[in-house]
Amino acid sequence: MAAPLLGEMSPAEAESVYFNEYPPPKALPRHEALARAFIDLHVEENRRVVLVTSGGTTVPLEAQTVRFIDNFSAGTRGATSAEYFLEQGYAVIFLHRQYSLLPYSRHYSHSTNCFLDFMDEAPASADSTNPGHGPIMVRDEYQDQMRSVLRKYRYAKQNNRLLLLPFTTVSEYMFELRSIAKLMRPLGPNALFYLAAAVSDFFIPRSRMAEHKIQSGELPPHMSGSAISSDEIYTGENEEKPSSNSRKLVINLDPVPKFLHQLVDGWAPEGSMVVSFKLETDPSLLVYKARTALQRYSHHLVIGNLLSTRKWEVVFITPDEPHERWLRVPKSRRSKSISGVEDQVGLAEAKKGNSATLEQAE
Ligand code: PMT
Repeated sequence: MAAPLLGEMSPAEAESVYFNEYPPPKALPRHEALARAFIDLHVEENRRVVLVTSGGTTVPLEAQTVRFIDNFSAGTRGATSAEYFLEQGYAVIFLHRQYSLLPYSRHYSHSTNCFLDFMDEAPASADSTNPGHGPIMVRDEYQDQMRSVLRKYRYAKQNNRLLLLPFTTVSEYMFELRSIAKLMRPLGPNALFYLAAAVSDFFIPRSRMAEHKIQSGELPPHMSGSAISSDEIYTGENEEKPSSNSRKLVINLDPVPKFLHQLVDGWAPEGSMVVSFKLETDPSLLVYKARTALQRYSHHLVIGNLLSTRKWEVVFITPDEPHERWLRVPKSRRSKSISGVEDQVGLAEAKKGNSATLEQAE
């Protein structure tokens, strides 16, 4: 009989099986030490702390990973939200996909706003001792915006308000989330979880994962039979095996256990608030799926968004009235900014002193 899938086990069983199957990430002890010190500091200062998760997780196809499955998330939602939490006086643990967008530096990412375009070489003064080597300056038109971002960044850094912890794979994410949530227990109701990361729903269990790079071509004679080639791997028991010359790679993925249940009922501190996100592409499913998640995990808020409109509209699904509330950035305010809703809310607040410029749909 086939072993039960993790999704078919009780949450506690799935947790034990999942976390026993993988070695903890190498960086975990260091990240835990950093998080412990950060949390202790803010417990002492009675400050609220939010764990923001951000960016996409990868699913490796090989243990010595050459190839992996990824997703679209750039970390815009997480990085932008983190800035607004900092402005509201929170300390932020930013658990993010390595090399995804970060709070503050996201304004000058390599692809959309290359920082080099913001700079100029100032002419050297006549009495310069080093002619031809004038100082590098921020161009006039960007001074105000850059000053403002720089000041906020410096403030967060100098006052120990922002802790950056990277992950790459889905299992690294799970280990980090579990450890940090448990470390946050002394914060009690001062803890908030804001789960904006795009977490893979499917993965390859360690027991079925190839150790080495999956081969697509012929192997040398001395290795034939000892390595796994693409048409021998991940074919499920009941699936038809591709013919030996098909060169197909058939990937058989298991569902990743949803650890939200464990987070809400076990890992997170008593009295803390948990906000999760729900991403869909089919508009007719979004509210239904977000409501189902809220009912299933009994947490506080699900923020729903569609892939195509996520920068301009989100829906808040809450256990209490009004249960469903849409926030939309008016068309006139949909700037070319990459940041979308959070920045537009911030912009509206800055200009009007509140967030009333967001359209609230019926
Ligand atoms: O980064 P951007 O480009 O700005 O995009 C932002 C975003 C669209 C990724 C973000 O707004 C968002 O919707 N994130 C959640 C996407 C997602 O993973 O949805 P989900 O239905 O798979 O998961 C729902 C929740 O359960 C998430 O909060 C996730 O963190 C959590 N989860 C998911 C899978 C899993 N195995 N365990 C979990 O705890």
